[in-house]
Amino acid sequence: MQRVLVRTYGCQMNVHDTEKVENLLLHHGWTLAEDLDCAEFLVINTCSIREKAEHSLYSDLGRLREWKQAQPGRVLAVGGCVAQQVGDALLRRFPQVDFVFGTHNVRWVSAMAEAARAGQRQARVEETASLERFDLPERHPDFVGATPGRAFVTVMEGCDMFCSFCIVPRTRGREISRPADAILAEARQLASGGVCEVTLLGQTVNAYGRHDRRRAETRRAHGAAAEDDPGTIDFATLLGRLADIPGLARIRYTSPHPLFVDDALIRAHGEIEALCPHVHLPVQSGSDVVLERMRRRYTHVDYLRTADRLRAARPGLVLTSDVIVGFPGETDADFQATLALVRAAGFVDSFSFKYSPRPGTAAAELPDAVPPEVAQARLEELQALQSQQTLDYHRSRVGEEVAVLVSGESRRGGGQHAGRDQAHRVVNFEAPQTVAIEPGDFARVRIVEATPHSLIGTLADPPAGVRTSLKPSRGATDRGIRIQGIPG
Ligand code: 5AD
Ligand code: SF4
Repeated sequence: MQRVLVRTYGCQMNVHDTEKVENLLLHHGWTLAEDLDCAEFLVINTCSIREKAEHSLYSDLGRLREWKQAQPGRVLAVGGCVAQQVGDALLRRFPQVDFVFGTHNVRWVSAMAEAARAGQRQARVEETASLERFDLPERHPDFVGATPGRAFVTVMEGCDMFCSFCIVPRTRGREISRPADAILAEARQLASGGVCEVTLLGQTVNAYGRHDRRRAETRRAHGAAAEDDPGTIDFATLLGRLADIPGLARIRYTSPHPLFVDDALIRAHGEIEALCPHVHLPVQSGSDVVLERMRRRYTHVDYLRTADRLRAARPGLVLTSDVIVGFPGETDADFQATLALVRAAGFVDSFSFKYSPRPGTAAAELPDAVPPEVAQARLEELQALQSQQTLDYHRSRVGEEVAVLVSGESRRGGGQHAGRDQAHRVVNFEAPQTVAIEPGDFARVRIVEATPHSLIGTLADPPAGVRTSLKPSRGATDRGIRIQGIPG
């Protein structure tokens, strides 16, 4: 039996690419290894969004020389964003690496592993503008996603925004959207396999289909017929079609760009019950001068207006965000504007980062670097503010009864279960041992306590709260169960 282990760095897109690699290899006769010791093949799926992630790859590779030598025939591959950027230089610099595959080349992994076994070292990092890269096999029967009941679905890839700090347009290539039929077919298949929550993925996910629509308009203006239509629709329409799939109780998407939160998407949040009341909407800064240098194409007022409109469309909608501190030229007044925006937008959570210059990006050329100790102090101040806001929000939820999609045992231990509510908050809860609760189940939970990182609850009183049996057994094909409308 050949066993493969895939190690993942980075974002949800990378996590999903890892799933694609694992699934593909299962189809080619590999099994998934429990740990490194028992693996014959190791894939490292890399991230280059910040310098730190890239450096941890290099120290990892150093340590893996021994692993590779310990057993003849072991194969070591590097994929993902660093692979895309560095390409075959990785082969030269690290003799222990057998092959390198870029972000558009996932579908070649199995063939490249075979070639490596025959002694061939190679790098495939060519970018393609074709839809072929979306042609991957359906879920293998042995594939187990990270969380039962939940799945990622790619709707678009790449980014044409070129924010000045961001490496992604260089590692993921140009923006390309997947035909709606393929997305809907995948979602239907997932739902019939027991998945009740999908997260739509794309670097600017709500820009879905925009280039195709523009091209179609141009073609029509020149009198062309519709047969070249690549089959995309607008993002809000796609959400509506997904919500019609029986069994899909929750639909999420990540990450949207504020510029493409249009009227139709805001309306969708008001009309589609299955569309979760949570939007992770990266703001990056609250200072208009900095936003301009970041090339974000909105002002802090535009952003706040969008935030208000989303919340007006769906009361209770939770906003979370990404924020960068220490961008070149960021003054103390700029940073104060960021703190003010975090307050005004009422972020329930945020990921905050110190700016990290990335080679080849426009911001890497900017003067007036912020001293590291200043950036660090700003990061800490921002995180302290955010922690307080998160805790205040969690406290406001105590007493509610919510539907929790169970992911497994709580990290807090003590036999508690963990899951997420509709707003994507972590809920840890206790249940009598006599009640069987499995990952992928929905449970009704009463929130009794708030901590900075999670909500704590107890299973709501039986009989209403006992295992909802909303999740049909695995493997059934036609369940026709609608579980929309579960109040979060
Ligand atoms: N430095 C720091 N943070 C960055 N991000 C992207 N590029 C950089 C960079 N060069 C952050 C942004 C983005 C998140 C995924 O990572 O906040 O939204
Ligand atoms: Fe990077 Fe900006 Fe594209 Fe997001 S929108 S992936 S931050 S370039």
